[in-house]
Amino acid sequence: MPLNLVTGGAGFIGSNLIRRLLSQGEQVRILDNFATGHRHNLTGLERAELMEGDITDLATCEAACRGVDFVFHQAALPSVPRSVADPISSHHACATGTVNLLWAAHRNGVKRVVYAGSSSAYGDTPTLPKRDDMPVAPRSPYAVAKLAGEQYCRAFTLCHGLETVTLRYFNVFGPAQDPGSPYSGVLSVFITRLLRGQPCTINGDGETSRDFTYIDTVISANLLARQSAAPLGRAYSVGCSPRVTLN
Ligand SMILES: NC(=O)c1ccc[n+]([C@@H]2O[C@H](COP(=O)([O-])OP(=O)(O)OC[C@H]3O[C@@H](n4cnc5c(N)ncnc54)[C@H](O)[C@@H]3O)[C@@H](O)[C@H]2O)c1
Repeated sequence: MPLNLVTGGAGFIGSNLIRRLLSQGEQVRILDNFATGHRHNLTGLERAELMEGDITDLATCEAACRGVDFVFHQAALPSVPRSVADPISSHHACATGTVNLLWAAHRNGVKRVVYAGSSSAYGDTPTLPKRDDMPVAPRSPYAVAKLAGEQYCRAFTLCHGLETVTLRYFNVFGPAQDPGSPYSGVLSVFITRLLRGQPCTINGDGETSRDFTYIDTVISANLLARQSAAPLGRAYSVGCSPRVTLN
């Protein structure tokens, strides 16, 4: 059975991915520093090996990649407002952490790295639907740092032959999403408030539209990206629905 490294495995998307991998009988190693992830997300996932550490440390990435076949790189500080308030931490986690991980993956003979990219790469260009070949136009430090990560993936494929695939996620929602932080996604906040019988607050007129993507779609996309024969070193959009407004 292959050994999979899931960075950010204590987070929302990472923990759901690990659950799927373990249910398929696969081996999993987790690398997480619990910056935004939670130990309770790992309940029931004890068969996975947990390495507590930071991807901004190259030696940690080297140790995490030893003996690994595939890397699912989910670790990041995933918030636009947080990156505006603190662009340096955002850059370290999203950009520096990614180049560390790619270098470690290359030096350890990892077969493929699947990278969690972001639809924020497209900025607020009005063209719909978004297409993978559209020009990128990041608007926040977070979007720039995530885009730097995907460009590093491309560079490592071109320069070192390391197989990489970037998946640009669109507004993911589902179980294990943290509704409790000021940076939480809107659906996790709305669902939690509605379950408590509380009203939801919409900023603006509510006609802002998004492609809200259920977590299972993202997990399936990751597993397909690990084995797909589609061109490597490039980004693919992962969404699922027509436009949905907040209203
Ligand atoms: N949730 C979304 O809608 C969405 C949309 C687009 C892209 N993404 C990307 O998907 C990935 C996962 O997002 P999520 O929603 O699960 O977020 P999350 O905050 O739940 O998970 C991120 C995980 O990374 C860990 N982490 C952060 N910095 C780290 C570091 N320096 N070293 C090691 N671990 C670190 C956190 O502790 C956390 O467990 C991120 O890369 C994010 O940019 C998410």
